[in-house]
Amino acid sequence: MTSGNVSIVTVIGSGTMGNGICHVFAQSGYRVRMMDISQAALDKAMLTIEKNMDRQVAKGSLTAEAKAAAIANISTHTDMAEAVTGADLAVEAATENVELKLNIFRKLDEHCAPHCILASNTSSISITKIASVTKRPSQVIGMHFMNPVPVMKLVEVINGYATDAEVTKTIYALSEKLGKTPCVANDYPGFVANRILMPMINEAIISLHEGVAGVHEIDTIMKLGMAHPMGPLQLADFIGLDTCLSILNVLYNGLGNTKYAPCPLLVNMVQAGYLGCKSGEGFYKYTPGSKELVVSSRFA
Ligand code: CAA
Repeated sequence: MTSGNVSIVTVIGSGTMGNGICHVFAQSGYRVRMMDISQAALDKAMLTIEKNMDRQVAKGSLTAEAKAAAIANISTHTDMAEAVTGADLAVEAATENVELKLNIFRKLDEHCAPHCILASNTSSISITKIASVTKRPSQVIGMHFMNPVPVMKLVEVINGYATDAEVTKTIYALSEKLGKTPCVANDYPGFVANRILMPMINEAIISLHEGVAGVHEIDTIMKLGMAHPMGPLQLADFIGLDTCLSILNVLYNGLGNTKYAPCPLLVNMVQAGYLGCKSGEGFYKYTPGSKELVVSSRFA
């Protein structure tokens, strides 16, 4: 299959990554089926997509007509068999949990047409392992978008051990059609993006934990000193501290090197439910509707 033959895309999961992925496919003219287990989650995701497209309309990067056409490209589904009917590509963007993803891929394999490519947006779980629960491992691939999906240019394309070269070509060309820059990596723990990003975030947390500097100082040094759009602690809050911890555990267990051991402070914060933006507090405290960056009173 070439990227030109992909016209219907099913996206499993309507959270931050899922709705962002639906947004970019729909805006590029693909028919998108967004699937989640609850209609309430799907309704919330549609509102988020509308709000994010409204931002683009206000900035002049999208016309009101193009927005309406993109929104009309998206349908919502709670039933997997219905959501994948006629799909040429299914992109899984569920929570970063191995058992959950394996179950989704078993079902996708059962319900999708034989030609359909199965992609995962996983940030660190092995594509080879995911592919192994299907009867089409050569058609399983990683398609790792970055958050916020409509803004970030990268798609990390991950070849599982058995991924067919034609499938990689299709996903590469498709990513370019979405206006993204794809980069191919092989399937080893954390791939490239998180193998390099997470140790930096972990080291920032260790620096805070050991009292080398405060939250504001660590983030300002990295933001202004390295021209990063956000400091590593703010970025950890943005990604979700639970996600950072789970990726670090994949690196630690998968590569067997103590340099990836998650900082005990990160473990404590996740256990206490301080997950960053999504829970309202992590290294910073977040007030809905406010863009002001306020350091959590625990670190002030
Ligand atoms: N949808 C559409 N547009 C969006 C958007 C969204 N969800 N979020 C932001 N934007 C747009 C804004 O409208 C704005 O557009 P213009 O440039 O045309 O004005 C632009 O993005 C910048 O947004 P803001 O002005 O609101 O805020 P900002 O300048 O502080 O930028 C940011 C916000 C883009 C998130 C920036 O801080 C950033 O790039 N941060 C780093 C993000 C990053 O590193 N992401 C990767 C995380 S790792 C990951 O995702 C993978 C993993 O496996 C863990």
